Amino acid sequence: MVDSSTETNEQTAPSQEAPERVLAATGVRRSFKVGDRRLEILHGVDLELYRAERLCLMGSSGAGKTTLLNILGLLDRPTEGEVEVENVRVWQLGQAQRSRLRNAKIGFVFQFYHLLAELSALENALLPAMIAHSAATFRSKRAGYTNKALEMLTRFGLAERLTHRPGQLSGGEQQRVAIARALLLDPPILIADEPTGNLDRATGEKVLDLLFEEQETRGLSLLLVTHDERLAKRCERIVHMEDGLIQADSRTPIPH
Ligand SMILES: Nc1ncnc2c1ncn2[C@@H]1O[C@H](COP(=O)(O)OP(=O)(O)OP(=O)(O)O)[C@@H](O)[C@H]1O
Ligand SMILES: [Mg+2]
Repeated sequence: MVDSSTETNEQTAPSQEAPERVLAATGVRRSFKVGDRRLEILHGVDLELYRAERLCLMGSSGAGKTTLLNILGLLDRPTEGEVEVENVRVWQLGQAQRSRLRNAKIGFVFQFYHLLAELSALENALLPAMIAHSAATFRSKRAGYTNKALEMLTRFGLAERLTHRPGQLSGGEQQRVAIARALLLDPPILIADEPTGNLDRATGEKVLDLLFEEQETRGLSLLLVTHDERLAKRCERIVHMEDGLIQADSRTPIPH
């Protein structure tokens, strides 16, 4: 690609680099078969997420936010349209490659945590590494991953909760374990679907503080769904979705 800044002469200020697109949905449609009817939920969505930005997606209940997040997180396939992760068209890959890409590039945090009930907090945080490697490779790398998980869980205030099962943890604690799990493999992208939706306000704020702190220090591209206007104000970009379409996007051109 030709960099336009190379054409800038010395008198004019060099133009800022174009933001790097890390995740994109293009013309995404999703319909579901319900009985003998087909319901179209997403009607051709275009959305791009840029490197290190904090994007908040809002919209009424039923607008299609979770449906879109599941597609952008490679958990669901669009009926039509493209999804690109760091410019790779994911539905042109085979399943194994796509799973590897998802595991390496995208962390996902759910409203209801989705931790495995039989595993401890520490084991839950280690899950992405278990999935990423064969049993033998995981064994050889286990100590390194364990140190990493311990460091995060301790930083998240869970040093005394490592062997607790999810059922023995509060909602806020479970969500912090889920965030550690999502970040274990250092993905550049983090998708969070109402991560504080099941928590009281004070607990939710603490979880969000932690999420934003990680976003900042790691330079994560964060795509966050929330119904809470106050939380949305902490994002640099707000996108509104209604009836399966993007209605508004606060993104303004990067100043030159
Ligand atoms: N698997 C499915 N089969 C049929 N309909 C579905 C399916 N998944 C979602 N829908 C429908 O798609 C619409 C959008 O759902 P979605 O969960 O994406 O909304 P949302 O914007 O996340 O809402 P909320 O804010 O309540 O979480 C809803 O009307 C829902 O009933
Ligand atoms: Mg939802």
